[in-house]
Order: sequence, then C-alpha cells, then structure tokens
Amino acid sequence: MTKKDSLPKIGLLYLDYVLRFFDKSNFKGWPDKIEQVTYHWGNDKARFIAEVKRKNIDVLIGNIPATAYEAFREIAKALPNVRFLPSLDSQFSNKSKENVTHFCRKYNLPTPHTEIFYIPEKAKQYLANTQYPKIIKRSYGPSNYGGYFVHKVDSYEEAASLLSQKRYYPAYVQDFVPMEADIRVMLIGHKPVCAFWRRPPEGEWLTNTSQGGSMDYQDVPKGVLELAARASKAANAEYWACDIALGKDGKLRILECATAFAAFPYIRDWIGQYLMWLLSDGRFAKPNIPLYNWEELGKIDTRLLRTMRHIGFSRYKPSQDCGEQFSRLDEYNYPILDTTYRPDEEWPSEMWNFQDNFKLHGIVVPAKAQSLIPSNDEVSTELNSYQDVQFDEAQIREILSQVKGVGSKMVEEIMATFGAIGVVEALNTKPEQLCVVKNLKDKKLEKIVNHWQQVAKPCH
Ligand SMILES: Nc1ncnc2c1ncn2[C@@H]1O[C@H](COP(=O)(O)OP(=O)(O)O)[C@@H](O)[C@H]1O
Ligand SMILES: [Mg+2]
Repeated sequence: MTKKDSLPKIGLLYLDYVLRFFDKSNFKGWPDKIEQVTYHWGNDKARFIAEVKRKNIDVLIGNIPATAYEAFREIAKALPNVRFLPSLDSQFSNKSKENVTHFCRKYNLPTPHTEIFYIPEKAKQYLANTQYPKIIKRSYGPSNYGGYFVHKVDSYEEAASLLSQKRYYPAYVQDFVPMEADIRVMLIGHKPVCAFWRRPPEGEWLTNTSQGGSMDYQDVPKGVLELAARASKAANAEYWACDIALGKDGKLRILECATAFAAFPYIRDWIGQYLMWLLSDGRFAKPNIPLYNWEELGKIDTRLLRTMRHIGFSRYKPSQDCGEQFSRLDEYNYPILDTTYRPDEEWPSEMWNFQDNFKLHGIVVPAKAQSLIPSNDEVSTELNSYQDVQFDEAQIREILSQVKGVGSKMVEEIMATFGAIGVVEALNTKPEQLCVVKNLKDKKLEKIVNHWQQVAKPCH
C-alpha cells in the first residue's frame, strides 16, 4: 500500500488452459478495478512481466501450477515490488512431493519416512536393503491423478521393476503407513474452515475419492486440526490445505499440503473476504467462520453446496433465555490470523530446485497445454486439482495422434467411445479405462499417458 487510505491494486493471476480458482466475484465489495493477467505457456515471461507493470499491479493473487512454478520464481524476482499472494515460498509445496518433504523436514512436521534419490544407483542400493511394503510415487507433475502415480511395492523385485518401467525421477520412496483414513483440512488465516475424512474402500489402501474412497465431515479429531494449523503457519500461507493420514498406530502424518486445492465457491468467497481484510488494513471486516461449520454445511447436498455463494455468519451473542452453551464451538484456539508479508525468499530455487539443478537427462517439450483433471468440487478432492484444463476435440485428436503407434483409426475409436471430455477425465483419473478400445493395451496406454504428461510441461 502506498498512500494511506488507498487500496493496493489487485491483479488475478491466470494461466491459459488452467481453471480459475478465483474470480472477481470472490472479492465482493472491493471498490477498485480488479485486473487480470494471463500467462501463456511457453516463452511468455517478459510479456507477462511487462503487462503486470503496465497495469500497476501491487498484489497478484492466484495459485501457480507445479509445472510453472520455476518460471514464476523468475517472474517474481523481476517484479520485486509486486506481492504474490500466496507467496512463492508458500507455494513451494505445490511444486512437487519432494518439496512437501523438504518443507515438513524443516518444520518438524510428521510425515511417513521418505527417501529421495537423484542417483538411480543409490535408489537401488536403498531398495535392496530396506523393509517392505514401501510406497513409490511420482514426485513432480500435475498431481491430481488420484493416486495413479502412487504405487505400493512389496519387495525389492517389485520396486526395481516399477522404477525401470516408470522411470520416475527423482525416485521418491516412502514407508507404507497402514491407515484408517486420511483427512483433508482447509484453512484460511491458519484457521480450519473445512475438513473431511476420506476412507479407503473395504480392503483397499488408496483413499483418493476418485478411486472409490468415501467422504464424511463428522468428528474430525482436534489433533488433526492442530497439525494442519501448524503446517499452515509454517508455510505462512494465507490459505492452505493439508492431507493428514491417521495411522492404524494412532499417529498423524502429513501426506500432502499445498495452497492449491479444489474448494466450493463459498470457501473461495471466504478466502476473498479474508484477503480483502488483509490487504485493506482492516477497512473490510474479517470473515467470521465458525469452527466445525463443515459438520453442518456438509449435510447439504453437494449439488446445492456448489452453487451456494457468500455464506456468512455473525458472531454468537449469548442471550438470557438460553442456558446451554454449545461448547464444541470453541474458537479460542483457532482465531483467524494475520499472515505477515515476508519479502525475503525462504526457498530460493538456486538452492532448492534439485530437479533442474541435478538433472541427469532432460527433455524439454514446448508446451501446448497444461493437462489436468476437469475439476469438480465434490469429487475432485485431490490437492492441486483446481488446475483444470479444457481441451476441444481437435486438440485431443492431435495429442492422441502424436503418440507413436496410435493411428487415426484408434484415435477415432477413442473419440467415439469417450469424447474429448471423457478422454481428459479418463487420462487424469483412470487411464486404464481407455483399454476398452480395441488393440489399446498396457504399452500403448503408457505411451499415451507419458505423452499426456509431456504436453503439460512449459518451456523454461
Ligand atoms: N506412505 C503411504 N502409506 C500408505 N498409503 C499412502 C501413502 N502415501 C499415499 N498413500 C495413499 O495414496 C493416496 C495418494 O497419495 P498422495 O501422496 O496423496 O498422491 P496423489 O493424491 O497426488 O495421487 C493417499 O491419499 C493415500 O491414501
Ligand atoms: Mg493426494
């Protein structure tokens, strides 16, 4: 803020092909014009920077997809007077699972024991001498594939064969944690505003709801909310989501955390209201969001919930005729807090971008598009799943036909069976569905999925 009483100029940060998390309507009542700046994939840094300067933007609000994170680190450096919100440091965990691990280690936040290898030989040595089962995950890339890139291995042989097939780099290896369920907590100003359980289907271990897991909003343990708030504070994140595993051993461990998550529009309104308060020196009121509101709101049909906007609560004032206190609504431990602006870099890429700094072999594919799941607030509960992309038929046809071994006949059959939206959805959630198409077997499917991931990479 430059002058007293004047508000900073807000710009919303958008990216081509990526579904927008915020919209002007989330900032209801903001009196000034809200600008928009859209990043076009490829070599767009200079143009983007110039546009932000030309529009005199003070604060750029929005999430940055994993594949654009490093490009935006550079952009942010070239715009030292622009506040990115969430800051690039708060978004460090959005980039990769590896970064989540670094973040949790630094702040002593419990996670499953994790090893990360940039040297394949070292991974082999470790895997030959460790105990099983283990979980192997792809660390980097569009993340909302609902567990498709998460694998349980029961022996060295399985681990070695998986890594030679998938070529995940780095190799990200985690202890398998038998768990009851995991819990998603969403926070604004470090206060939990929504939380729900995700339970695996009977006899399974994956809790992703896209894999048949179930959700419910009742009785989330306090310790889980506390751990999520600790992580949010450590990240200095204005808004935040955490997936916390509740182990069969009773222990809590963070599985994922990020500023990017799918959220109902009314939650995005709350975030907007919070940011307006934060950026206006108190000229706008801080939203009042009762703890455990989700237990009640969660009872509303999701088809309604995803259309409900600007849900507001006033403060509770005890009245004479009411003898009972609703003791669970204990706000004391969870006030909505200020998040302070920190101009210094906590996670500079010169140091922390191991992926590029360490690269053994790198393919840089000019991006046509950023590929991800069509987000759907009630089903797409994976972190980062706001990064939605819409493709038209022609684009999907082109992408498919670029895959070696996929001829025009197969493209036609895939399109006839699934349609453009169906293909994107299948690729993002259950790619094996595509195998209903004649002659489309594992090998080809893998090529298609790999290609799909590559078109998601922007140039650096
Ligand atoms: N170390 C682990 N032990 C047991 N299950 C795990 C472990 N890590 C992940 N899972 C299961 O796999 C799911 C997906 O893993 P996650 O790290 O969230 O990746 P993503 O959601 O990006 O696919 C989790 O929700 C959880 O059910
Ligand atoms: Mg997950």
